[in-house]
Amino acid sequence: MKIPSPLLLILTLIISFTNPSHQQSPYFPNPRLSNAFIALQAWKHAITDDPKNITATWYGHDVCRYTGVYCAPAPDDPHTTTVAGIDLNHARLAGTLPEELGLLADLALFHLNSNRFKGALPGSFRHLRLLYELDVSNNLLSGEFPAVVLCLPSLKFLDIRYNKFSGEVPDDLFDLKLDALFINNNLFKLKLPKNLGNSTVSVLVVANNDLRGCLPSGIGKMAATLNEIILMNAGLSGCLPEEIGMLTKLTVFDVSENDLVGSLPESMGNMKSLEQLNVAGNKLSGQIPASICSLPRLENFTYSDNYFCGEDSSCLKLKDKDDTKNCIPYRPKQRSPEECHDFYSHPVDCGSFGCSRRSPPPPPPPPPPPPPPPPPPPPPPQHYYP
Ligand SMILES: *[C@@H]1O[C@H](CO)[C@@H](O)[C@H](O)[C@H]1NC(C)=O
Ligand SMILES: *[C@@H]1O[C@H](CO)[C@@H](O)[C@H](O)[C@H]1NC(C)=O
Ligand SMILES: *[C@@H]1O[C@H](CO)[C@@H](O)[C@H](O)[C@H]1NC(C)=O
Repeated sequence: MKIPSPLLLILTLIISFTNPSHQQSPYFPNPRLSNAFIALQAWKHAITDDPKNITATWYGHDVCRYTGVYCAPAPDDPHTTTVAGIDLNHARLAGTLPEELGLLADLALFHLNSNRFKGALPGSFRHLRLLYELDVSNNLLSGEFPAVVLCLPSLKFLDIRYNKFSGEVPDDLFDLKLDALFINNNLFKLKLPKNLGNSTVSVLVVANNDLRGCLPSGIGKMAATLNEIILMNAGLSGCLPEEIGMLTKLTVFDVSENDLVGSLPESMGNMKSLEQLNVAGNKLSGQIPASICSLPRLENFTYSDNYFCGEDSSCLKLKDKDDTKNCIPYRPKQRSPEECHDFYSHPVDCGSFGCSRRSPPPPPPPPPPPPPPPPPPPPPPQHYYP
């Protein structure tokens, strides 16, 4: 039946007068749950494929029994139930993330790993003041870096890896007080910024993006927290900074498959927690410092496919190591003498990358160009009329 519009208007007015709180409805114990209902129904409409039939339970007013939706007492009001978590990992849902999700204002966990969501993270996520863990990894999300994550005051765990995000990564990301940051396997183009060292993460994975430039020396400032850093296949160039030796809590350091040059800093012998060290597939050279091979916890040291010219006997005793495809005399499977000779006939200048303290001082600036000739005087005004 089609309701004539004047009648609809009157009905609407009656409803809004008898129910002034607007969102409060007799169906819902509190307005937070009625907002959650609006958000989840909007989301259900934005889901285009649900092969495991997960949203089949998403009907009716009791949102707390929807599959993947977790309710808890609100932190600011223990007598009020609210939606505290969404966990739809591996649900294989397809669709988009509607703006209405910002109505889930008490959300602490949002886990959406391994689905097929497209598009962007809604800007309305800025309302999620309690969001602590955001995992949208392994989806089809795209567009610019989701800048909304920079506005989430409670965020500790950010995982957006394995999506199709592209463009720049804002430097501010590294000023956040995060515990873990995964942005690997996207299409980002980024230069690790000077403020990288401000980051409080224990795990940082940036691998498989288009990184340009060097590992900044500020990384030494992450010594108190950094436990794992994975920068493999990311286009890193330049020399490794001395300061990585300050990372005494680091257990995993992987900078394999990049364009790094120069030698391994002697200071790496201070990285006393290191268990896994992978520098394979770069253009590193010189001697492997003995201090690295005698690190107490080192289990696996991969340095194949470089131009190292020597290693200490302690390196040969490591349980797991790979030194192939280098220039190390008397070791099997090395590069040809010609290739090694060619490589070593061009000295490496860490300074030419403009980002390492190990660089010699920059050359003096060229003399200033001669001043430009003064501009010609403006043409005299033309008088067409006497
Ligand atoms: C999905 O769930 C609905 C409601 O429970 C049911 O009617 C339908 O047959 C289910 N579809 C599949 C493919 O399991
Ligand atoms: C972050 O690092 C930059 C550059 O090193 C520095 O100028 C800035 O003050 C730092 N910010 C914070 C919040 O520590
Ligand atoms: C050692 O590390 C390399 C490179 O990450 C890996 O391919 C290899 O499987 C590791 N070895 C062991 C025994 O874990």
